Amino acid sequence: MRVFVAGASGAIGSRLVPQLLDRGHEVIGTHRSPAGAEHLRTLGAEPVALDLLDARAVRKAVLEAEPSAIVHQATALADLRDFKHFDRSFAQTNRLRTDGTDALLAAAREADVRRFVAQSYASARYARVGGPVKSEDDPLDPTPVPAMRETIAAMRHLDEAVTRAGGIALRYGGFYGAANDGMVEPVRKRLFPIVGDGAGVSSFIHLDDAAAATVLALEDYRPGIYNVVDDDPAPLREWLPVLAEVLGAKPPRRVPRWLARLFAGEAVVMMGTESRGASNAKAKRDLGWELRYPSWRQGFVAAY
Ligand SMILES: NC(=O)c1ccc[n+]([C@@H]2O[C@H](COP(=O)([O-])OP(=O)(O)OC[C@H]3O[C@@H](n4cnc5c(N)ncnc54)[C@H](OP(=O)(O)O)[C@@H]3O)[C@@H](O)[C@H]2O)c1
Repeated sequence: MRVFVAGASGAIGSRLVPQLLDRGHEVIGTHRSPAGAEHLRTLGAEPVALDLLDARAVRKAVLEAEPSAIVHQATALADLRDFKHFDRSFAQTNRLRTDGTDALLAAAREADVRRFVAQSYASARYARVGGPVKSEDDPLDPTPVPAMRETIAAMRHLDEAVTRAGGIALRYGGFYGAANDGMVEPVRKRLFPIVGDGAGVSSFIHLDDAAAATVLALEDYRPGIYNVVDDDPAPLREWLPVLAEVLGAKPPRRVPRWLARLFAGEAVVMMGTESRGASNAKAKRDLGWELRYPSWRQGFVAAY
C-alpha cells in the first residue's frame, strides 16, 4: 500500500513509519519543519510539508500523493504541562482532531482513498460507573468534567466522523516507550502524586505495540473502533509507585482530592480517582494482534 501518514514525525508516527516500511508499504509522511523532513527521510519515508489545519493544502497534498490509505496521527501534545486548564492545553490537538480529521476525510473522499485510520484515545473516556475495564461497546462518559468538555467532544467527533466514513478509530492507551515520555520528568521530580484513593484506572500501551496494531488495522481493514491498550489496566495507586521505582525516583506523594483539585484541577482528580480502563479483547481477536509488552510492568522496565 501507499500510506499517507499525517503526523509521521511524532512519538507514534516515528514508530509506525519503520513498521510500515518493514511490511513492504510505501510511506508518505507529513512534516512542518526541515528537521522533520530530514527525520522522515532517515526513516525511509517520502516527506511532504503540510499543516493539517489548512484544508486546501490537505486536499492538494493528498491528491498529489495518490495514497491507497491515510493514517491520522497528528496531535500537539509536546510540552503539555498545564492539566488544570485542560481544554486550553488541548486546544490545538482538539482542532487537529476535528478540523484536521474533517479535512483529511474530505480529501480521502475526493481522492477515492478507501482506507482511513485515525488516532483516538481510550483512558478517561468511558462512563465512570460499573466495572473498571470497558469495551468499545460500553457507553462513553455522558457528563465529562467541565474542564475536559471540549477535549472529550473533539475525540467523540473524531470517532464518529471516521467511523461514519467507513474508517477505523484506534483508541490508544497512554503511550510510553520513549525516553522523553511526558510522565517521566514529573515522576522523577516527585511532582506526580497519587490523588485521593488512587482508584482511577489507566490503560497503557507501548509505542511499538501501538504501531503494530495500527499496521494490522490498516492491512486487515475491518472498519470500526478498537481499544489499543495493554492487558493490564491498573489503578493509579498501583502503577505510579512501580513507575517511580523503575525510574529510580522516590515513591510518589499522596495528596487529598481537595488539594489536587486546587492545584492541578478537576481533570487530574477525575483521572486519578474515577477513570475507567479499556479492554483490548476486540483488537486481539479481530486483528490477530499480539503484544510484545502485555503489561506496563515489563514495558516500563524495558523502556526506562
Ligand atoms: N495516547 C497517548 O497517550 C498520546 C497520544 C499522543 C501523544 N502523546 C504524548 O505526547 C507527547 C508528545 O507527542 P509527540 O511527540 O507525538 O508530539 P506532538 O506535538 O503531539 O506531534 C505529533 C505529530 O503531529 C504533528 N503535527 C502537530 N501539529 C500539526 C499540524 N498543524 N499539521 C500537521 N501535523 C501536525 C507533529 O508534526 P511536527 O513534527 O511538525 O510538529 C508530529 O508529527 C509524547 O510524550 C507522546 O507520547 C500521548
